Amino acid sequence: MTDLKSELGEAVAAAFAAEGVDAALARVTPSDRPDLADFQSNGALAAAKALKANPRELAGKVAERLAADPRLSSVEVAGPGFINFKVSDATLAKRAQAVAADATLAGASAVAESRKVIIDYAGPNVAKPMHVGHLRSSIIGESLKRLFRLRGDTVWGDAHFGDWGFQMGLLIVAVGDEGKADGFLVEGEGPFPAESPVSLDDLERLYPAAASTAKEDPAYRDRARKATAELQGGRPGYRALWKHFVAVSRSALEREFGALDVTFDLWNGESDADPRMVGMIADLTAKGLLVEDDGAQVVHVARPGETRKKKLADGSVIEAPSPPPLLVVSSEGSAMYGTTDLATIVDRRETLDPDLMLYVVDERQAEHFEQVYRAAYLAGYAKPGELEHLGFGTMNGTDGKPFKTRAGGVLKLHDLITQATDKARDRLHEANLGADVDPAEFEAIAHKVAIAALKFADLSNSRTTSYIFDLDRFMSFEGKTGPYLLYQVVRIRSLLRRGAEQGATPGPIAVVEPAERDLVLTLDAFDQAISDAYDKRMPHLIAEHAYRLAQAFSKFYAACPVLVAPDEATRGSRLALSKAALDQLVLALGVLGIATPERM
Ligand code: ARG
Repeated sequence: MTDLKSELGEAVAAAFAAEGVDAALARVTPSDRPDLADFQSNGALAAAKALKANPRELAGKVAERLAADPRLSSVEVAGPGFINFKVSDATLAKRAQAVAADATLAGASAVAESRKVIIDYAGPNVAKPMHVGHLRSSIIGESLKRLFRLRGDTVWGDAHFGDWGFQMGLLIVAVGDEGKADGFLVEGEGPFPAESPVSLDDLERLYPAAASTAKEDPAYRDRARKATAELQGGRPGYRALWKHFVAVSRSALEREFGALDVTFDLWNGESDADPRMVGMIADLTAKGLLVEDDGAQVVHVARPGETRKKKLADGSVIEAPSPPPLLVVSSEGSAMYGTTDLATIVDRRETLDPDLMLYVVDERQAEHFEQVYRAAYLAGYAKPGELEHLGFGTMNGTDGKPFKTRAGGVLKLHDLITQATDKARDRLHEANLGADVDPAEFEAIAHKVAIAALKFADLSNSRTTSYIFDLDRFMSFEGKTGPYLLYQVVRIRSLLRRGAEQGATPGPIAVVEPAERDLVLTLDAFDQAISDAYDKRMPHLIAEHAYRLAQAFSKFYAACPVLVAPDEATRGSRLALSKAALDQLVLALGVLGIATPERM
């Protein structure tokens, strides 16, 4: 860490140590009373208890040792033994200068040791439209990818494309029944048609219909099961047909993700793990982990004593293992969702050998990942701590249930973006923004405002909580919203442009006014926000910081004239502060996956 809080923390720890106190007790935090102090330490209270000393006296001694520190302008003991610190103007100016000069991290710091990290997010499926769960995963995963990369890790974002399993069999049957698959149904090696027999519309129409027919019609279901087994078994015509499904879906999905500014380094499908399956099953068997259970093959993952009550069909209640065993091969002989995930871990181990794999998937899949991870640890495919499920809450409608469209269907990402962009256009018109740009630029601005609104609304909530979808609120130019932050960015850019037109350039930073102090202390807090967000995998801490920074800038701008500053040195300093605030804000928003326009 390079921030003032850590720098001060070291000095305070040394002063406590000199008084015979364990330095670990000497924590420094931002002040609870910013009107009185910049930072504080409550260490004397805990330490005095341990030493059976008087806390106020101990605080006094520590304060005396720090009084001569040139970085501090005041050190005071308050209340029962708090120590309050004010940092000198010169120290703040120096820190602001360092933040301003830091083009890559804007004052944040990199990790001490770079790791190889795979982030598994979005997880879209062939033919199934994406729903709000995929949206949250995409937004949060994209942000974590950028955050880990910013701090110096080597990161692969993997879409983990759902291109295998029963839904593929359903599609083969449905496309065949429409007479579209004739060229692919012949036995043998082909050749098969090179053109896709289906469009995206076909897939999106056929899949839901097939899924609901299968629910009611066992014969249909059996045909789909058989087709799935034959596809997975390698029947050439089915493979050829399936490749078309995958390609058509993928290019549509990439377009949708592109509109959301979400990109992947890997588009590995569940199918890519398939070639690992046979070897993995043999390995699990050899290790004695794979056992027969009612015709299926499972891995027991609960430790002795880990049980929960389970009601059986006959109404009796038993103590069943918890988590339940991981189903690896079903009684019908097919590989399951968990098998694919386990084989994917084997695949990643053998190809990229990552230090960490993060899975950004709906909290409702928590048990699935617990089962998979435990099996992976038992089999030695990963070490404990290398696999992390980052669950998240749902985006709900006003009824408190996962968001549905007015027609009651799942919300398609594409429609959501269109809806948000329409609203962004209206809002821009209402606020009389974008009036003097050409139509193409106006469209680009509206798109950025829409994406900022959606992403910021999502990322300003803690990952684990659910939130209510309210496009009107997300799209407001006031309050804690994406559009508000974009507006602040644009305001600073315009200020700097006007400055440049007048020949005014950023100069050395001096910190004088309270609003300047506050702005610099906020810039300083970025380092902590970034490292906390990284450690906890919680992008909302960055969203929080971005909002606080925008507010600190607003107050500064209201209190401290920039272009009409009293003298040239002050003007140069304030321009430099404005530029530093802009750079950090743009960087923070960039980590959230939010792009900013030059003007509005
Ligand atoms: N495709 C899955 C779904 O739609 C999500 C995949 C999540 N990632 C994983 N490795 N299982 O629910």
